[in-house]
Amino acid sequence: MKVKVCVGSNCTLLGSMNILDQIDDLKDIIREDADNYSDEELEVEAIKCLGFCKKTKENVAPIVVVDKEPIFNATSQTVMEKIVNKLRK
Ligand code: FES
Repeated sequence: MKVKVCVGSNCTLLGSMNILDQIDDLKDIIREDADNYSDEELEVEAIKCLGFCKKTKENVAPIVVVDKEPIFNATSQTVMEKIVNKLRK
């Protein structure tokens, strides 16, 4: 699974660094509870501005893309839920 977290200025201001930290913690949780999760690797990439904020005037930050599916106004909770639902056996 590929997770891209935007760390451009708009998204960072609205908390994307915190989301990045939480995903790191989630990686540890998954490692410790490996039996309940698929073997698929959780790849996390921090990217400087994914470009979404420039395409709209609406407030969409922070943005996290999970397997090509963008989550707008992402929170740690929505991102964690998405990842866990996809990786849980
Ligand atoms: S700063 Fe995150 S999409 Fe532009």
